[in-house]
Amino acid sequence: MSQSNAKLTAGNGAEPHGAAARRGPFRAGERVQLTDERTRMNTITLTPGQAYHTHKGFLNHDAVIGQPEGSVVANNVGQLYQTLRPLLSDFVLSMPRGAAVVYPKDAGQIITMGDIYPGARVVEAGVGSGALSISLLRAVGDGGYLHSFERREEFADIARGNVETIFGGKHPAWKISLGDFQDEVVRQESPASIDRVVLDMLAPWECVDAVATVLAPGGVWINYVATVTQLSRTAEAIRADGRFTEPDAWESMVRGWHLEGLAVRPDHRMVAHTGFLLTARRLADGVTGLTPKRRPSKTEFSAEDLNAWTPANVGERDVSAKKLRRAAREATATAPAPVGAGSESTDTSGPQHVENAKDG
Ligand SMILES: C[S@@+](CC[C@H](N)C(=O)[O-])C[C@H]1O[C@@H](n2cnc3c(N)ncnc32)[C@H](O)[C@@H]1O
Repeated sequence: MSQSNAKLTAGNGAEPHGAAARRGPFRAGERVQLTDERTRMNTITLTPGQAYHTHKGFLNHDAVIGQPEGSVVANNVGQLYQTLRPLLSDFVLSMPRGAAVVYPKDAGQIITMGDIYPGARVVEAGVGSGALSISLLRAVGDGGYLHSFERREEFADIARGNVETIFGGKHPAWKISLGDFQDEVVRQESPASIDRVVLDMLAPWECVDAVATVLAPGGVWINYVATVTQLSRTAEAIRADGRFTEPDAWESMVRGWHLEGLAVRPDHRMVAHTGFLLTARRLADGVTGLTPKRRPSKTEFSAEDLNAWTPANVGERDVSAKKLRRAAREATATAPAPVGAGSESTDTSGPQHVENAKDG
């Protein structure tokens, strides 16, 4: 990394980590989103001397480097492009991935309803592609602590690449460990030392004891699960443990709107389902939680029910080793590229598809 880039990305006390790199004129080495006149988007990494080619001519990267963000630039045949730095929500939907990512609308809910604050001590699992880790790091800030656990090394590599790309290098508050959350977190973190626990994995109910051990009294545990059956089993396990408040569950739906002249109406299509959120808070040791007045009449699961939670049964797709290796290569390649290294472009045009299949 050049000296000027290092200054821009390293937290220096006055500027939070990575903030300066998101302002000012475009610099060599950073990612820029190009939108053409038909609103098709592509992301390029600015590299002196290189060009972005389409069937409608080419745009020299040097025509963008040094321009203010939001400039409109022309290629060699007059094709116009609007130039902007990708927002976090753009980045997470186009970054290399192995597992399904937490959709931006859910990341926003997790940060707010999970009460993730600057300086908080947070543990998270699984890391997957690192989308949620990025939002959590932004929320805890340089003075916070995020310890992320991931059982699959390939996913950890992808996440590391993505986190370093968006922050322009290593984040001072981030630590990532390999292994099963429920085993590793109790080995690596002291009892009652963690403010917030965030789980996005197949079987959060396997983690109840570990979460109860590391979470401080009053601490928030927030889970993101893809199916109703996972939601129900996690809620029952939390209740049965007795060291937490009554769990709360919800989902959020975001409907975009079409804005054109008099045709102002909801979009015809939307991402209707991503996942459910479930929170509970750690009670003080030795306290019995208040039970709700009305309880469901049947909360037991049969042996047959308990065997039903397999990745295939909850609609998760297995990702091939080859696809994971390719995503890891792509993620590593986009992490802080030295100025002057090769350029790459990511097609982000068209509606973004977010897989509902969770976990791996
Ligand atoms: C859906 S992905 C997480 C996506 C991630 N939150 C994101 O936004 O990119 C689920 C991940 O959990 C990991 N995982 C599942 N169970 C785990 C466990 N007990 N401990 C650690 N990681 C686990 C899987 O390997 C997978 O990478």
